[in-house]
Amino acid sequence: MKRFTEILNTLKFNFITRSITAVIAIATLVTSCVGGQLGKNNSVEFKNGMVVSAHPEASRVGLNILKSGGNAVDAAVAVQFALAVVYPNAGNLGGGGFLVYRSSTGEISSLDFREKAPAAASRNMYLDSAGNAITDKSLYGPLAAGVPGSVDGMVKAHQKYGRLSWARVVQPALDLALNGYKLTENQARELNGNRADFLKYNPGKEYYIQAEQWKAGDLVKQPDLANTLSLIRDKGRDGFYDGPVAALIEAEMKAGGGMISANDLRSYQAVWRKPVTGTYRGYKVITMPPPSSGGIALMQLLKSVEPYPLSRWGFNADSTVQLIVESERRVYADRATHLGDPDFYSVPQQALLESSYSRLRLENFNWSRATLSSDIQAGKINGKESEETTHFSIVDRDGNAASVTTTLNGSYGSKVFVKGAGFLLNNEMDDFSVKPGTPNMYGLVGGEANSVQPGKRMLSSMTPTILEKDGDLFMIVGTPGGSTIITSVFQTILNVVDFDKSMQAAVNAKKFHHQWLPDEVFVEKGALDSLVALRLQEKGYKITERGPIGRVDAILKTKWGYYQGGADSRGDDTALGW
Ligand code: DON
Repeated sequence: MKRFTEILNTLKFNFITRSITAVIAIATLVTSCVGGQLGKNNSVEFKNGMVVSAHPEASRVGLNILKSGGNAVDAAVAVQFALAVVYPNAGNLGGGGFLVYRSSTGEISSLDFREKAPAAASRNMYLDSAGNAITDKSLYGPLAAGVPGSVDGMVKAHQKYGRLSWARVVQPALDLALNGYKLTENQARELNGNRADFLKYNPGKEYYIQAEQWKAGDLVKQPDLANTLSLIRDKGRDGFYDGPVAALIEAEMKAGGGMISANDLRSYQAVWRKPVTGTYRGYKVITMPPPSSGGIALMQLLKSVEPYPLSRWGFNADSTVQLIVESERRVYADRATHLGDPDFYSVPQQALLESSYSRLRLENFNWSRATLSSDIQAGKINGKESEETTHFSIVDRDGNAASVTTTLNGSYGSKVFVKGAGFLLNNEMDDFSVKPGTPNMYGLVGGEANSVQPGKRMLSSMTPTILEKDGDLFMIVGTPGGSTIITSVFQTILNVVDFDKSMQAAVNAKKFHHQWLPDEVFVEKGALDSLVALRLQEKGYKITERGPIGRVDAILKTKWGYYQGGADSRGDDTALGW
């Protein structure tokens, strides 16, 4: 039995590199012991719950919480803290994110724990005296950091929904920080690649710095981070936003010219917001409202393609790709103009979400040639209404579902560790439009709606999402990927709903992306067959190959009531169930 449990615990859904025979053997073993079963495309399915995250240790922490009686939110809090220890590129205490939640009885909510601009921030803070953007300033060093929201977010989520004690859900991360975790090969390579930046932005600190190169299997212990986590475990939000940790953040700001003050920290509050909801081909979509652009943009994309017979055209057929690209072009143009923090800017949410609006936007689309982005502006709205992030998806035994995307923005955020506290600060300030029309690190442009203002949240693309079918849970989905987040979530949903793929196949499927500006279709190598690419090029589409798009971690509930995991094979992502 111990051996079966071990197999279960280490089972990853990275089937591309595994032989089908091995999978069948493992699945049979699992089926006979703990209720896993072999599903579509040889994916292993579980009955009692599942965790899919970017790191095997974090998934293990989440699964243990579920097995010991914790619910989806208990597991989400434990996974968030575990990722802050074992996945420093994006897991965080010093960043922010969003949670979309659906209870087994259909109650829905969304929590905004996005970072905020410090009170001392101002519109032109990243411009030089000639008015030009100095992009390095919003990307690196303490000045790039917004006021972190993750710890307050976890406290609020746990207060509202948690079942286990707070100490119980924080402890596994603390144990990982104290006792150490083993680097994966990807992590060792990324840490080695960031050595120069870590040294540059962290004089006198030794976090993730050692004389030799990192290699897979190296054990990393983080005593300062363990100390910070013990304060959070014992004092809740005050363990982070007040007392020694807050003082260390403030000291870091003073030493490096940052702006976050003790008062910014003390006054930070995560906010419960009404989720964006809509329907797509009979499925109910529950997703994140502003200050994420993700939910509105996702709904606009789904509504744009809904009138068309995608499943008849086929996955990545030329008509499918063309329609998706033209929809994305228009939706991202809207994003640049109309979306921002709703506490500061009146977002025309209802108008953008009208199905008729999305249909109207596609009216000037010509099948015989590409629309030029220079001919597309944001749609007219009548009247105003009042590359590192990580996503994890969790479902518990009762069917409660948590969809969480969390980030430091760039990989390892601002690259600044808080001395003595052992965690990285975000560089989320770059998600503001630092100057109208100047692209940020993801090439996204914006204007007034997303200008820098004190206390304002920067616009995000993060799109944690849950789908329902016939009043029951259907899918939990989300991904990192900056501007490509929205299209990756969108295409993953289409892959299941329109193209009938299993969760794992939908996640692994190659993706493509258009974001209005630049006027290019970015494609993962192998996403389009050469004939499709040629036909699109003949119509005037500029096709540019790029690296991986998305790292989706998702869960699908099958019609037989089993959970199918989709852990992205582009990373170390791991689905564990029971
Ligand atoms: O909130 C956003 O949209 C970005 N800060 C997300 C960054 C991201 O996904 C980086 N991942 N590769």
